[in-house]
Amino acid sequence: MTLLCLENISVEFTTRDGCVEPLNCIGFDLDDGEILGLVGETGSGKSVTAQAIMGLLPFLDGRVSQGRILFKDVDLLSLSESEYQQIRGNRISLISQNPMTSLDPVYRVGNQIVEGLRLHLNISRSDAAKRAKAVMTSLGIANSEKVFSQYPHQLSGGLKQRIVIAMGLCADPELLIADEPTTALDVTVQAQIIELFKKTTRDRHVGLIMITHDLGVIAHLCDKVVVMYAGTVVERGDVATVFKNPRHPYTLSLLGCIPTFGMAQKTLNAIPGNVPSVRTFPSGCRYHPRCFHAKPVCVKHSPETIRTSKGTLVKCHMFSPDWRKDSEKVG
Ligand SMILES: Nc1ncnc2c1ncn2[C@@H]1O[C@H](COP(=O)(O)OP(=O)(O)OP(=O)(O)O)[C@@H](O)[C@H]1O
Ligand SMILES: [Mg+2]
Repeated sequence: MTLLCLENISVEFTTRDGCVEPLNCIGFDLDDGEILGLVGETGSGKSVTAQAIMGLLPFLDGRVSQGRILFKDVDLLSLSESEYQQIRGNRISLISQNPMTSLDPVYRVGNQIVEGLRLHLNISRSDAAKRAKAVMTSLGIANSEKVFSQYPHQLSGGLKQRIVIAMGLCADPELLIADEPTTALDVTVQAQIIELFKKTTRDRHVGLIMITHDLGVIAHLCDKVVVMYAGTVVERGDVATVFKNPRHPYTLSLLGCIPTFGMAQKTLNAIPGNVPSVRTFPSGCRYHPRCFHAKPVCVKHSPETIRTSKGTLVKCHMFSPDWRKDSEKVG
């Protein structure tokens, strides 16, 4: 059953220098218990996508300007803030981009989990503590009793990260969004944490959106992949098919620099050219200035999203029937 469906979502922010649109007509979906990887270079709109799903944009001078976000049978964009609070942190949890900042240094970690739980669930302090310790143990924290009463600075990076994951999982969410949860960790711990995500989400049948720069993580962990570029989704489909048959020139370039899982993360910036900023998104296909195949049509018109023979979706003029007729290349 479909857990989450984003349909043609565009997002705008009001800034001092005017309005910006970091997301333009993006869409994807994931089923119950599925793991979806969201990948793209910096500024492509991954975190904004997470903020849109979590209903956090109004707090950031932003809004969804078009589209629908369906969570099971609920149209999230039609909810009032108090209705959203029933879902946020409860049925949908976010592990935000810098998890180390999610922990307050002056409170014992156990109390932080308990407070979070009691905010979302109507349970007693002692029940919340029991639940927190059980989740900590299930996440491989052997001495959960001791860790429960420690302060964040007393814990290693890997352990802190497990606590943040525990905070995300305690309320038993149906959907977890993890925004680059392993960037601050060393490679060995990264691999352990990714394993932990895999096991925990599978065991609990939790849907997971994993936001990452690391294609190795996507290959190892995810069922589906959504490739974002400059506020658009350029390619999406199941991981095995997209990795075996990448169609979009951007996906091809990304896969040209894929690291093996567990290796030091290679940045995606190895692709020649610069990532455009939200104020200077190019006309037509936003990837055209960096694309070796670009033709005039790519400069003028934004491509349609087309279903390939393999069942994946790609937003590129090369797959339109008119492509061959337009023989002139750009640059
Ligand atoms: N509150 C905001 N107001 C204005 N612009 C914003 C705001 N938040 C994000 N943006 C812009 O939206 C664009 C997408 O940002 P986002 O944080 O989603 O990128 P990202 O893909 O998560 O990048 P990274 O990999 O660096 O985390 C960026 O150009 C960013 O400057
Ligand atoms: Mg981000």
